[in-house]
Parts: sequence; structure tokens; C-alpha cells
Amino acid sequence: MDHFRYIDGKLFAEDTAVEDIISEVGSPTYIYSRRTLTEHYARLAQAFAPLNPIVCYSIKSCGNLAILRSLAELGSGFDVVSGGELFRAVLAGGKPSSIVFAGVGKTDAEIHEALDADIFLFNIESEAEFWNINRICGQRHQRARAALRVNPDISSAGTHQKTLTGKKETKFGVDIDRAAAFYRQAAKAEFLSLTGLHLHIGSPIKSTQPFVDAITKALALIDELAREGIIIDTLDIGGGYAAFYEGNEAPSAADYAAAIVPLLQGRRLKIVLEPGRSISCNAGILVSRVTYTKQGGRKQFVIVDAAMNDLIRPTLYESYHFIWPVQPGVALQPPSRSSELRTPADQKVDVVGPVCESGDYLALDRHLPSLKRGDLLAIFSAGAYGFAMSSQYNARPRAAEVLVDGKHWKVIRRRETYQDLIAAEL
Ligand SMILES: Cc1ncc(COP(=O)(O)O)c(C=O)c1O
Repeated sequence: MDHFRYIDGKLFAEDTAVEDIISEVGSPTYIYSRRTLTEHYARLAQAFAPLNPIVCYSIKSCGNLAILRSLAELGSGFDVVSGGELFRAVLAGGKPSSIVFAGVGKTDAEIHEALDADIFLFNIESEAEFWNINRICGQRHQRARAALRVNPDISSAGTHQKTLTGKKETKFGVDIDRAAAFYRQAAKAEFLSLTGLHLHIGSPIKSTQPFVDAITKALALIDELAREGIIIDTLDIGGGYAAFYEGNEAPSAADYAAAIVPLLQGRRLKIVLEPGRSISCNAGILVSRVTYTKQGGRKQFVIVDAAMNDLIRPTLYESYHFIWPVQPGVALQPPSRSSELRTPADQKVDVVGPVCESGDYLALDRHLPSLKRGDLLAIFSAGAYGFAMSSQYNARPRAAEVLVDGKHWKVIRRRETYQDLIAAEL
């Protein structure tokens, strides 16, 4: 699952003591394990190797350049959703021929940037967008390739309402029953060739069946189009593979591949994958220091120096992150993530940040060993949609990011300063 381990009562990231990093860099800090990151990428790439896919890591999940470079070195392509992510992908050494660009609101400027870079594929989300990109291609006398994002109307059980995207009533893509007509119209376009189909049904999807259902529907559509002479040569099956938050709840890369690969083998289709969370989530922890403890009515609060601006997932998605002290001592080895600790010494606490919102919490009613000012806490499974969704709300400089590689580590993004808070203001 990851390379964060307790040895003699102390948390290690690979072969580096977390406390040693924090004593130099301070808190809150995101710490990533390079070995965990690259292993998750390699497992997925290997499991799907029979399809010879383009694996396009989804930058939105965790987009630090050092993370992207580590993946580009392994041959990863990139899934981008903005001009800014495209900029990061290219800067990190991503090959344009392995970059796909999704998003419901691509601006003309972003479309020009993608055409300048000569990316592999635009993932199209509406008729208006398709014809706009075709128009811009015409102005530039440049041809480009596109895939239509189709909503297969699949219910992905267990996915939070805010990350469910494959149902009819979402802002993403077009309904599957409108898709054939879309392809027929698009065949008339002079510059943008719509020869791909794109799916992304939500995230995280903890079973393989929704993928099977969605891909089966997509293949039926591809066959129907082929009978009309409209040939689809690229199928982008999106991301959404689960990660480990509570225990062993996520199917392995091999499990997903066992369900998906047989559906696609032997088909003349270039397959694209867009995994984000399944690669970056377990590769990162957020480390935070206890500032105060206090009581409020029957509640016990642990106030820490990380807040919803650093990690918004608990309040935005009601998501669970396992939390444990960085130096619990040998007597307090962490319990398994889902069971939590229940000993006479433990207490049920809310772990909260200093931001002025009641929604500013990292955990509610959590059993933790007794904590005091100065203790460090590790918030696990924070690599995906952690730093990437962080903000400066309450004028809080963003956390530092550190990448560990065995015994070595380096700051890959310095902690922001007060000057950073006002740097863009005139
Ligand atoms: C189009 C698309 N592809 C890929 C992803 C990555 O999903 P995940 O990080 O769950 O793999 C997302 C996530 O929102 C997405 O919208």
C-alpha cells in the first residue's frame, strides 16, 4: 500500500524519520514517498500492459513538478484539464504525443496552447466546444484529434455525490443516447477528427463492475458507429481507480485489469488510461503539529496547525483519513486503519484546524491516544487531491512539500511566505 512505516515507535517515510524532516522544514508539510508513487504507477502500467495503453497520469490529483518528472521518467503521459496543467506537463518532460486534454470549459487561449504543443487528444464535452475547436483549427490550418466524452449513465456505488460523473445529469460529456448523432454531425468537420471515445464515470470507484458496464456500453456504441462507416480508433477509459484510505478497500491494479482487459483485447483501439488517485493518494501524508487541546461541552478538541485550506477533503467529501501520532512510542503501534484504537488510555476527539469555519476539521469523533501541545500527527492517504486542492484561505501560506527517496529527501515546494500571499496583488 505505501512505504510509511512505524519502526521502534517512530514513523518513517521509506528510510527517513518523519520527525527529522519536520524539525528542518516545519509543519504543516506534505511528505511524499517516491517509491510508493512509482510502484503504484508501475503496477497499473504492468497490469494493463496487454493492451499497450497510453497511461496518462491525471495531474489534477497531485501536480508538483518533481512528482510529474518522476512519472515522466517512467514513461507516463499526462491527463490535463487546464492550460496551467498543460504548462506543468510539458515543463516536467511530458511528451505532447501522450497528453490528453479534458474539461467542460476550455477557453480559446487554452485551445491555442494545446494546438501549439500538438497534444495527442482533445476530450470533447459538448457540441459547442467541438465546433469551436474545429473553428480554431481552421484559422490555424491545423488538424487535430478528438474523443467525445460520453456519459454511459452508470451509477458508481460508493462514490460521493460530488465526484460522481457518469450519470446523465452531470455537466460532463454528452448522454450516450445523443452520442451517435453527435458523431454523424462531427464527421462533417474539416479540421477536428472525432475518432475517439472518452469515459470517466467518477472517483473513487471501489468495484470493477461499473467499469465493465461503462466499457460494454461504449463498445456497443463503437460497433453501431462502425456499421455506419464511422470508425473509432481510440478509447480513453478515464481514471477513478480507488486507493487505500481505511484499509484494503481498493481492488488492486491486477483486479481492475482482470475485469477490463478481456473486454478490450483484440479490438483495434488505442487505449488511454487516466489514473490519478490510485497513483498519488497513498504516496503522500500531511504532517501537522498539535497547537492546543481543549474541551467544548462533551467534546474534546485537538487543534492542529493544518486546516481545511491544506486538506479540504474531509469537509468537502466527508472523507476519512487515518490519523496517528508521528512518535507514538513503541507501546502505541497504530491499529489497523479501519479498526482504530480502543484502549483505556485513548480518547475520542475532533481534530480541527485554526480556520474560521465550523467545517474546518480533519477528523470527527476519532479515537486517538492522548495528545499534548507539540505532538506531531500524520494524516495518511493525503497525496491525491490534498496539496492540489489547497488554498490560501484565511491568508494562510500554503504548506511545504517534500519528496523522500530512501534515506534522501528534498523540499520540492518551499513553504509559502507572507510575501507570496500578496505577490500578485497590484
Ligand atoms: C476526466 C478525468 N480523468 C481522470 C480523473 C482522475 O481520477 P482519479 O484521480 O480518481 O483517478 C478525473 C478526476 O476527476 C477526471 O475528471
